[in-house]
Amino acid sequence: MAVLLTGGAGFIGSHTAVALMETWKQRGKKEQLVIVDNLYNAQAEVIDRITAITGTRPAFVQADVADRDAMETLFNTYEITAVIHFAGYKAVGESVSKPVAYYRNNLDTTLTLLETMARHGCKQLIFSSSATVYSVGDKVPFTEETKELGCTNPYGWTKYMIEQILRDTAAAHPDMSVVLLRYFNPIGAHPSGLIGERPNGIPNNLMPYITQVAAGIRPKLSVFGNDYPTPDGTGVRDYIHVVDLAKGHVAALDYAEGHTGCEVFNLGTGVGYSVLDIVHAFEQANGIHIPYEIAPRRPGDIASCYAATDKAKKLLGWQAEYNLADMCRDSWNWQKSISE
Ligand code: WQD
Repeated sequence: MAVLLTGGAGFIGSHTAVALMETWKQRGKKEQLVIVDNLYNAQAEVIDRITAITGTRPAFVQADVADRDAMETLFNTYEITAVIHFAGYKAVGESVSKPVAYYRNNLDTTLTLLETMARHGCKQLIFSSSATVYSVGDKVPFTEETKELGCTNPYGWTKYMIEQILRDTAAAHPDMSVVLLRYFNPIGAHPSGLIGERPNGIPNNLMPYITQVAAGIRPKLSVFGNDYPTPDGTGVRDYIHVVDLAKGHVAALDYAEGHTGCEVFNLGTGVGYSVLDIVHAFEQANGIHIPYEIAPRRPGDIASCYAATDKAKKLLGWQAEYNLADMCRDSWNWQKSISE
């Protein structure tokens, strides 16, 4: 029996691989982990690092999930009983300038995966969705039941569309189990400092930018707007430690094994922090000054975004445990390890 992680060499995927293998070891469960990744936005050495952390080497297949022949060969090689689907492009800004590439890649990978799963009788799928589908900024905390969805960029629309594809697929196949996980803002890194987020070029996201300022790679942080209707005027988000997020996937897989149908869950902490809260928390946790300047708002940003977390707690038995200081410390620990 094997569980497949598409895009499993990436930031969230690699942390989920570690969480799954550590859980199986604790439970004495004999499962095989298979990672398929085209390494477009990941490095092969991550597999070695997952092995170093867990003591077990996952199977690794370098392939594009949209490649039908490669996926057929993979499913013929391993008895895949469940899939966690991370593979996809995920840069919001890039999606605005390259919309067709985003729709082609994120939808093709998903459709090829679903066709292959159907041919091989694989009925459990966990999907890496995003809080970006909640674009209504005045309804926080966002609950899964809200019908007011909508996106401000092509990346978000691919997540929205894939959620719909998966709902329809689950409706057509009542013996399937589909779990949609809407991530809020994942930050931090595994405490070992062996795996973490490696953005290409100039980081789009706040925490990797802050850690590069701390490392002297960037001179200062630009705070995108301080005139939002928030306590200090800067954007408020729900930052969640990537290890907590990874454990949410383990809980989702347990849930999928015991249920059928399609269910959606927020994976967040339920707490919103502003940009300046993050800057100050990082400075306090690491004793490093982060110079910043106030810059114009970033197009597409909303004022506040944070999760209602009751459903995941009640149905998955999962809630985030790491605090903001942990996230800031582990983010910096990782940055130092890749800056050496
Ligand atoms: C957070 C806050 C910015 C950078 C995105 C995607 C979402 C998910 C997480 C994939 C905002 C401010 C940022 C900077 C800043 N990704 N900021 N200066 O935009 O909430 O979410 O990443 O699933 O789908 O949309 O995250 O880290 O880019 O921004 O002031 O240099 O930090 O304005 O308020 P975001 P972010």
